[in-house]
Amino acid sequence: MLALVVDVPESDAELASDALWGLGVVAVEERRGAPGRVELWTSLGDDRAIVLDAVAGFPEHWESRLEEIDETVADTWRDHAVPTWVDDDLVICPAWVEASFAEGVTVLTIEPGSTFGMGDHPTTLLSTRALRRVVDPAAGMRVLDVGCGSGVLAIAAIRFGAEHADAIDISPAAETMTNDNAARNGVADHVVASTALLQEMVGPYDVVVANILAPTLIELSIELLRVLGPDGSLIISGILADRHAHVLEALQPLRVVQVDELDGWAAVTLQR
Ligand SMILES: C[S@@+](CC[C@H](N)C(=O)[O-])C[C@H]1O[C@@H](n2cnc3c(N)ncnc32)[C@H](O)[C@@H]1O
Repeated sequence: MLALVVDVPESDAELASDALWGLGVVAVEERRGAPGRVELWTSLGDDRAIVLDAVAGFPEHWESRLEEIDETVADTWRDHAVPTWVDDDLVICPAWVEASFAEGVTVLTIEPGSTFGMGDHPTTLLSTRALRRVVDPAAGMRVLDVGCGSGVLAIAAIRFGAEHADAIDISPAAETMTNDNAARNGVADHVVASTALLQEMVGPYDVVVANILAPTLIELSIELLRVLGPDGSLIISGILADRHAHVLEALQPLRVVQVDELDGWAAVTLQR
């Protein structure tokens, strides 16, 4: 298995860690580096070209390298995984964790594989809660999940009563995991996962959810506006609570309906 190691000055550790989360990693381990430096160990899959391309935009003083590591060591985080409560009656449970929940609790069972999407990241929690607010189970809604990772948001949308969800991601692993997880949660007939680009998607969608880093949201803003239906809701996350005004600017003329924050991250719901 291929580990991505980003070696940064101590003062940049948090910023670099946020940048890695935004790229869709499942876990980041911080290790002491040379004096005054920190190494962030993570994985973005085993395709060297894709990983190097993903970190190409990092500042020059962040030194990235790839290391081959033993898969059994890399997977120790799995031993510590626990269910994540999104609401009192909604929980995201790692597929390998044996747990039982009270009647009436909606359980989303997720295997992330090498994708982002254990459901425990603040941006996923915030996006899931926002989705629950905007999905009207009586309306037969079409949902688009942009940057689907493990598919957790697309699957949640169906469980909340949407009729259909298209789930797209630039990572082929995300397509596979989303299809697997849709089947695992009994919603395979309602979720179509692919590596199609947003530019190829045909709207209008009643709900578009995009939990992706701010620069990508800005890059995709025109296409997000294009696929959103006239009465649709756009949920964006992957943005920092105190630094997302520039993303909202790119999404004008959409107006902000609600901002939710958790642990320094934000999710914003917008409408026309
Ligand atoms: C932060 S993860 C979110 C995963 C999942 N939606 C969740 O909330 O747990 C962001 C995902 O966006 C994908 N991504 C990044 N840029 C993209 C783009 N331009 N188009 C589609 N997906 C993209 C990454 O591969 C990653 O899986």
